[in-house]
Amino acid sequence: MSKNNLLSRLDSEMFEAVWQIGRQADQKNLRAYVVGGVVRDLLLRKQKVFDVDVVIEGDVIDFARELAVFFKAESVLHPEFRTATLFFKDGMTIDLVGARSEKYDRPGALPHVAPGTIGEDLFRRDFTINSVAIQINRAKFGAVVDFFGGTEDLKNKVIRVMHAKSFVDDPTRIIRAIRFEQRFGFSIEEETLKLLKQAVRQDAPSTVSRPRYFSQFQLMLTEANPFNNITRLQEFKAYDFLTRVNLEKVHVLQRHLTADKKLRCTNEQRMMLYLLAMADKVPLSGLSAHLDKFQLTKEERALFNKLDTLDHIEGQLKNSKLPTSHAYSLLKPLEETLIWYLYYRTNKISIRRHIEDHLAETRDIRLLINGDDVKMLGCKAGTKVNTVLQSVLYRKLDGEINGRKQELAFAEEILGGLK
Ligand code: CTP
Repeated sequence: MSKNNLLSRLDSEMFEAVWQIGRQADQKNLRAYVVGGVVRDLLLRKQKVFDVDVVIEGDVIDFARELAVFFKAESVLHPEFRTATLFFKDGMTIDLVGARSEKYDRPGALPHVAPGTIGEDLFRRDFTINSVAIQINRAKFGAVVDFFGGTEDLKNKVIRVMHAKSFVDDPTRIIRAIRFEQRFGFSIEEETLKLLKQAVRQDAPSTVSRPRYFSQFQLMLTEANPFNNITRLQEFKAYDFLTRVNLEKVHVLQRHLTADKKLRCTNEQRMMLYLLAMADKVPLSGLSAHLDKFQLTKEERALFNKLDTLDHIEGQLKNSKLPTSHAYSLLKPLEETLIWYLYYRTNKISIRRHIEDHLAETRDIRLLINGDDVKMLGCKAGTKVNTVLQSVLYRKLDGEINGRKQELAFAEEILGGLK
């Protein structure tokens, strides 16, 4: 195969799967294409492509069922949406979609979909750079299908909508335009920019269900540069809540996260850290209603109520001589995400050291004695037992006692003092 074939840039497992899907499609007389973000990323020569979307002209559900048997893969089928996902044993997933045309009854609503051709399927998409396909049937394996000038726009680093109603049909594309602009350093083409601003003026974002809008916003926070993304969104006044958030904290967080070469927290956690930064030092009363619209679990939502406690903890942890037990008592009640937020909110070495020690070691240190041992020493009341155990643990954390025998002896000594 020619080196110019874009598909040769896929990693070998993905390439093999795509090739086989093309062969299976041949046998069923179906046309099959790789589409969307993966093609864009292949054209941009991005190092790693994770998700592959395949469009099939024809009955995708039947085809996906047969592919699952062929690959011995798990499949999840959605006949009502004409989509399917294959989960391969090695962790790879491939999404299959039946080619479709889309019609929006009203702005911001989910579209009506009908079976369509690859041309219609590409036309329904957000931007020209995301509307290039690569055919995978054997006779045309690797042939680029570019009806709308996507490759040219990629070359010229331009983001251009497919048609004038794009942002009104689906206002989450406002966020997507900014994400791609910032991620790739592209510019939003002049007419597209006008349409974007017009959609904001017409208050198009308010027509989208909040969870849909916010999940796109949350995706923005997993990008490498959320600060510029948010600033840009703010500039377009695409969401008035953003005028209230703490952009300075977002900036600081991003600087510290980027400077840290070790990848210490997950994408999910990073997204939460940015949300926390946005709310840091902002009166919760003004933000609460907005925060409730994010797709947060009850536990995640509760983290915002604890932001106020961080200044005090930070103040104490500055002291590099702070006993381990004291750092433990400050950090133990905090959820891990808040601890990471504290870590990246500052770049003070002493604070970070305490946190690193806590996460790597201290938080997992356990006593070799338990409540029954303390009761055997003559302690009856439950609360007293806990007080004794905590004192023994703190002494152990500070390295003053070692081993079960010393723990018992110290527990006895404390009990003596309590009587
Ligand atoms: N798409 C669209 N309108 C949207 C969302 C998605 O037209 N509001 C289309 C685009 O063609 C996009 C494809 O669906 O390329 C897949 O969407 P998604 O996986 O969300 O985005 P990617 O383009 O793959 O971007 P990312 O790299 O951020 O995953």
